[in-house]
Amino acid sequence: MPNNEFGDFQTPLALARRCLEVLALPQHGPIRVLEPTCGRGAFLRAAKERNPTSIRYGIDINADYVQVARNYGTVAHANIFTRNLTDISWPDPTAPLFVIGNPPWVTAAELNRMGSNNIPPKKNYKGMPGIAALLGSSNFDVCEYIILKALTELRGQPLRLGMLCKTHVARNVLVECARARIQVATAALYPINARRWFNAEVDACWFTLTIDPALPQGNYAIDVHENLFEGAGKIARRWGIVGTTLVSDLDAYQLVRSADGPSPYTWRSGLKHDAARVFEFTSFPENLESEYIYPLLKGTDVFRGRHQHPSRWVLVPQHKFGEDTAHLQYTAPKVWRYLIGHAAALDNRKSMIYRNRPRFSVFGHGDYTFAPLKVSCSGMHKESRFQLVTQAKTPRGARPVVLDDTCYFLPFENSTHAALVTAILRSPECQAFIQSLVFWDAKRPITKKLLSHIDLFALPCDRSTIRATAAAIAADAGVRFDADEATELF
Ligand SMILES: C[S@@+](CC[C@H](N)C(=O)[O-])C[C@H]1O[C@@H](n2cnc3c(N)ncnc32)[C@H](O)[C@@H]1O
Repeated sequence: MPNNEFGDFQTPLALARRCLEVLALPQHGPIRVLEPTCGRGAFLRAAKERNPTSIRYGIDINADYVQVARNYGTVAHANIFTRNLTDISWPDPTAPLFVIGNPPWVTAAELNRMGSNNIPPKKNYKGMPGIAALLGSSNFDVCEYIILKALTELRGQPLRLGMLCKTHVARNVLVECARARIQVATAALYPINARRWFNAEVDACWFTLTIDPALPQGNYAIDVHENLFEGAGKIARRWGIVGTTLVSDLDAYQLVRSADGPSPYTWRSGLKHDAARVFEFTSFPENLESEYIYPLLKGTDVFRGRHQHPSRWVLVPQHKFGEDTAHLQYTAPKVWRYLIGHAAALDNRKSMIYRNRPRFSVFGHGDYTFAPLKVSCSGMHKESRFQLVTQAKTPRGARPVVLDDTCYFLPFENSTHAALVTAILRSPECQAFIQSLVFWDAKRPITKKLLSHIDLFALPCDRSTIRATAAAIAADAGVRFDADEATELF
């Protein structure tokens, strides 16, 4: 997605003008306008046009851009990562402050891939736990870092912030404001068409915050408008923090919040191995010891309803994570020879998780992986479809189906319970609850955290309808359903 290590997407002037209009940047009177990574200065220029008496200050790392941007304000040629925003000497430090712009659109992982040094230094963040935590994660967004840096350094001052950013960055910033008790008075988000303005395939927005340190407590809800242009006045929904979780529809959430509680069952994620070419097969590998071979389903199979007929197989060399594999040499010599034959690929897997672990380890498995029944859902799709996965036929008899790491599931031994839980998860009440929590634009909208929030037995479902649906689900899956057991459970 990034065009270079500077996440350089210069804002068209028309867009900058509209952003400042929506931000209601005052058109008269002294105001301070700060743009942390101003590029050629589209925002400074729009601010100058809108309010010629404003005092404008920009920073950018690109010397050529700085030359251009100096037409519209005072611009420092500096690196934002090492520049403290409180060091700026303003002619009128009491004038209302507006921190605006469009920080780089690039992630730490992308910078690493490019071998770039344009990355925030990891030290010197004592007293800034939010930033320290962000930098400690393997893949953070530089834009998120810059917004948090500005909010942290300028803490204690009232200000209005307006930033073009990825939508998930806006969410993360609000969560961090709530955690760090930065006094947010108002927050709003206006989606933009990133393809049209930046030729970028991302969910992006104009994100605004009003910070008022005088407030007794912050307001951690975001008004999500239809879009920056025609729909700027229309609020489509409100996101907000409940406890420590951000919910995607505060008003809908209030209606179903009784179901927000710990899940009565532990959600699991599927198997990860980082070597599909070695561990996965499109036909049953007759030449390997069959007790290590399982039918495999991926999230897409679950989502598309292909769960009753797995068409792949997976080699699972351990029963649980960390278990010794050396015995395979004697207990399953064909599997061992096969793995040794692919040792170069397996020993070079990048993820830290395999380091200092038994050779040929896989990850994300345990007894639950081999449960005969699973209630499963894809984490990656834009709809939550729950399926009851039963054992599948193999040339060596029925075997538990293994799900890959794009799935989440609940393991079951009891088919009545599994069918009942599938029916509850599919109920309109549960789906409404999920809708109120989920962010469909996220890479992995359905997460273990979200699922673990659903207190399945507290949903206001009609119990006899659920039991009837469960009976039909069990019949469709070809498993036993005991009406008395169902009534006892639900
Ligand atoms: C997405 S562009 C936006 C530019 C400008 N704000 C605009 O709206 O047109 C990001 C800008 O960040 C600048 N930049 C990237 N890394 C920087 C750094 N470490 N310090 C200062 N500026 C940086 C780039 O030069 C680029 O101009």
